[in-house]
Amino acid sequence: MNVDLGLRYDQNTSRRVGSLNDGLLAKRSFPTWHFAMMNDVSRTQAIEHSIRDAGVTGKTVFEIGTGAGLTAMLFARQGARHIYTCEVDRQLYDVAREAIRMNGLEKRITIFPASSTEIVEGGGIDVVPDVVFTETLDCGVVGEGFFSIASDIHRIAGPDTIILPSLVVQYGYLVNSDDIRGLNVAHNHSDLDLSPINGHSTSSYYPVRLPAHASRSLSSPCQVRKYSYGEPQNATATFRTAAYRDGMCHGLLSYFHAFYGNHVISNDIRDGGHWHQAFHPLATPFLVKAGHVYGFNLGDDGSLSVAETKES
Ligand SMILES: C[S@@+](CC[C@H](N)C(=O)[O-])C[C@H]1O[C@@H](n2cnc3c(N)ncnc32)[C@H](O)[C@@H]1O
Repeated sequence: MNVDLGLRYDQNTSRRVGSLNDGLLAKRSFPTWHFAMMNDVSRTQAIEHSIRDAGVTGKTVFEIGTGAGLTAMLFARQGARHIYTCEVDRQLYDVAREAIRMNGLEKRITIFPASSTEIVEGGGIDVVPDVVFTETLDCGVVGEGFFSIASDIHRIAGPDTIILPSLVVQYGYLVNSDDIRGLNVAHNHSDLDLSPINGHSTSSYYPVRLPAHASRSLSSPCQVRKYSYGEPQNATATFRTAAYRDGMCHGLLSYFHAFYGNHVISNDIRDGGHWHQAFHPLATPFLVKAGHVYGFNLGDDGSLSVAETKES
């Protein structure tokens, strides 16, 4: 059995439930990936350097998603006057509050056991923040609630508020991989028709560690979507790409670059961070031909569908 204990994603309910392990260890309400995330040095350094470059001395910060308190405390260390931060997971809220107390930062950091929407709608903060920060990105960008968080940020930010990240760019390429498709579609066995379970296959995207699977790229990486917290968008995105190889296209492998100022956090395979990459399956795989151009829709839930096919 291939059980991944470190998922940073739950395909139906965003990433609040992280892995099988979390279900078994019912004492903990938050997923296993928090540990790997906190040990992802390139992620932490990018965040730390972006805070340094933003020049936060004397500024007021609103952070969405405290986690265990790491980023709120980095803002305090870099001289922010006050940090307001909110965390929906009650157990993590307790963890972060304890870490903030242990580090003597409780007068500089106010933590709310609440979602960003509750804070924005309930008026928990009575100032326009100088900086809004969030790192609530799952492997396919949107699974942890990108659009509702973007809408919350839009409501709370002023015209001069610095938003970190300013932009998230998602890239992807077409992939042939029976192996990756097999993570989401059950095959029949010994003439037994097992197809009913496939009515429950993931239609949006699921996490994969690309090097663990046999796969072939069918196109060059291209930009598939841009996300901006400052300008919420709710339309399906479209992108076009040319195949450079003949083959059965099973879906799109995507990864993102999130720009925290000039610093990037990414689940790009070349960066070796803690994140998985995202695989967006096609409901019906189809044969692509080298040199032909294909258009795709990428829905707000990350679901992929074919929009156009034409010969170049
Ligand atoms: C990826 S962790 C990042 C934690 C911390 N900011 C860091 O970078 O180390 C994101 C956290 O945001 C929380 N979260 C997600 N959506 C939220 C929301 N809308 N409001 C408050 N917390 C949220 C999750 O429970 C999770 O603990």
